[in-house]
Amino acid sequence: MEKVAIVGAGRVGETTAQFLAEQEIARQVVLIDVREDWPQGVALDILQTSPFFRFDTRVVGSNDPAAMSGADLVVITAGVPRKPGMSRSDVLDTNVAIIDSILDEVMRHAPDAMILMVTNPVDVLTWRAWWRTGWPRQRIMGQAGVLDASRMATFIAMATGFSVRDITTIVLGGHGDSMVPLPRYCTINGIPVAHFLDQSQIRDIIRRTRDGGAEILALRKNSSAYDAPGASVAAMVDAIARNRRRLLPCVAILDGEYGFSDIAMGVPCVLDQEGVSRVVELDLTEEERGWFAGSAAAVEADIERLGKASG
Ligand code: 2OP
Repeated sequence: MEKVAIVGAGRVGETTAQFLAEQEIARQVVLIDVREDWPQGVALDILQTSPFFRFDTRVVGSNDPAAMSGADLVVITAGVPRKPGMSRSDVLDTNVAIIDSILDEVMRHAPDAMILMVTNPVDVLTWRAWWRTGWPRQRIMGQAGVLDASRMATFIAMATGFSVRDITTIVLGGHGDSMVPLPRYCTINGIPVAHFLDQSQIRDIIRRTRDGGAEILALRKNSSAYDAPGASVAAMVDAIARNRRRLLPCVAILDGEYGFSDIAMGVPCVLDQEGVSRVVELDLTEEERGWFAGSAAAVEADIERLGKASG
């Protein structure tokens, strides 16, 4: 991939840029931020790690949205993070105004790009990006499930003692309190986790996965998570840039899948050079369908609250 623009050089933006550069996922990474001099400083700091990691990716910072011109992919991380005790939806009103103005810049300067939304509440803002740009749904996606699934895999590794390399997990639904971890589809080298863990251990892992972001926020106090979020975004960009056709849980616009349309939800997707080239529908049990519907209702309520006519 030639060029990735990251809008928002906060901790998630910075970590994402570092991973993209280290792994040479793009030839050029541009960090854009409104704070004067800040993105230039972040970019220079990352660039100075190149002798250690031996990468040739060009990392630059800019305060000018026009710096995203020609980007193949725009990652949006700008916005306010939540404070301890706040839900992701509590930052919606502030962040939607920021995101709307960024989307207008993306349409102006990078009209052929894909958009990867990271800012919370990510489901609603991914929907907003699709609605405001009017672009095909393949080109608009959000990061949530890759992070939630990585948290779940980490907790399963901690509980079982197995290598995390062998652990596959999947989390559907919204990136919020109503997310839907699917232990039925979680395996250790193909063996269902239920072979190794009892129901109460699995319930604990589900709870901890749902609270994964809040647990870190409560511990760090003045910072949300950014290492695992940055790694998750980089994994998605890698799948697109290298046309890997990876099957990853992403926030995608639904068009009838799982019985929902005109909403963005976390579902298994095929990620390749087209973006979200396919949404995969799983057979869910009645209970799982109920959880998914509950999660969709929470996302829909936020979309409604935004007012589809506004903006
Ligand atoms: C998280 O889950 C901040 O939503 C982000 O850590």
